[in-house]
Amino acid sequence: MGEINVGLLGCGTVGTGVARILIENRELLRTRIGTYINLKRVADIDIQRDRGLQFDEGVLITDAYQVVNDPSIDIIIEMIGGESIAKDLILKAIENGKQVVTANKALLASQGQTLIRAAAAKGVDLAFEASVGGCMPIVKTLRESLAGNHIESMIGILNGTCNYILTKITDEGCPFETALAEAQAQGYAEADPTLDIEGLDTAHKIAILAALGYGMEINLKDVYTEGISRIKPLDIEFADQFGYKIKLLAISKIIDQAVEARVHPTMIPSHDLLSNVSGTLNAITIRADAVGEILLYGHGAGMMPTASAVVSDIVDLARNLLFGSIGRIPTLSSQTSHIKKIPVLAMDEIRTHYYFRFEALDRPGVLSKISGILGRYGISIQSVHQKGRKSNGSVPVVMLTHRAKEADVRKALTEISGLDVVSAQPVLIRIEDERE
Ligand code: HSE
Repeated sequence: MGEINVGLLGCGTVGTGVARILIENRELLRTRIGTYINLKRVADIDIQRDRGLQFDEGVLITDAYQVVNDPSIDIIIEMIGGESIAKDLILKAIENGKQVVTANKALLASQGQTLIRAAAAKGVDLAFEASVGGCMPIVKTLRESLAGNHIESMIGILNGTCNYILTKITDEGCPFETALAEAQAQGYAEADPTLDIEGLDTAHKIAILAALGYGMEINLKDVYTEGISRIKPLDIEFADQFGYKIKLLAISKIIDQAVEARVHPTMIPSHDLLSNVSGTLNAITIRADAVGEILLYGHGAGMMPTASAVVSDIVDLARNLLFGSIGRIPTLSSQTSHIKKIPVLAMDEIRTHYYFRFEALDRPGVLSKISGILGRYGISIQSVHQKGRKSNGSVPVVMLTHRAKEADVRKALTEISGLDVVSAQPVLIRIEDERE
């Protein structure tokens, strides 16, 4: 086989980064692969925009189907995003026998099984390093580096936009909206930022990682998902007083024969490595039986870091093509025949530590009413703090608990919110603290 021809679908921020690496690092890539990677076609609806790159004559076109149907193209790089057109194009590329690279986490998380089956049936590779954690080589780590391990848990910060927003509010006390607007201006947020701030982008990513890590089918619908839009500066302040930071975490653990997969704002000790991951940076700790714990850290979003991950996939697939080793590494790490349907634990079954904030009237007996209800549900209080006295008589009462069952916590909070001495919906933030 001679040179490798690639076709890029979508030349937005990350697509442009991919094109830039392929053009500017062409010689470097040849030293790594042994042959040239030619960017043969780039399809985008806007081919007039100046991308700061010199494309060869006729490379930029508007018809993506012309690219996937071009018999001279070996690898298709899908950077369009979204679920319908992208899926159709990927399936067409697979049908045409092309290797496929995508960063499309939403599509993989919701319809990955269809794509994986189609690729396996056709005998082509489907690579998606850039779908999780930007430049962090998490997919490769799970599929290759940790192949000799049972994965026990994966806990990470997987959304740069949310981490940027939480960091900004924590460090500068700026309003949520200002931080979000700045994240969007920098190009970190998804086109629809609710995907970021309501945790769905992170859920897509942990669904993909759980499948890779535990050899299970991708299961997005059972991932519990809660975003950061209800986090108040007051809770960030309290967290700081207790030695915690608030991060949007993706948490996945294997518990007996089930998997925990959840996304929510979480208090973690300030000294924890993940606490010190700031701005748009992502990080993930993976615990596995042979290695113990490892940490990956890097830019989870942005043009060039994400493009770097895409190009690493192109290099892998080019090498596979050159050495006739397509399918050497199974898409979901385990052989397809060993991919299981592992149940995701219902949120009610989760046991963890909790932070509660109640807005309660500052009167005798209020604390005992609240703690009485918690006691009845078997929720043991670790500490109680009350701060200041507000003009209307309500004060924030904060409690940290020992490990409790989520179902009991929900029932208790429903009862507490019905007390006439409690003036607002209680705030609940889960705590991940291995010291406890
Ligand atoms: N919107 C995503 C983030 C981009 O903020 O991390 C990378 O998936």
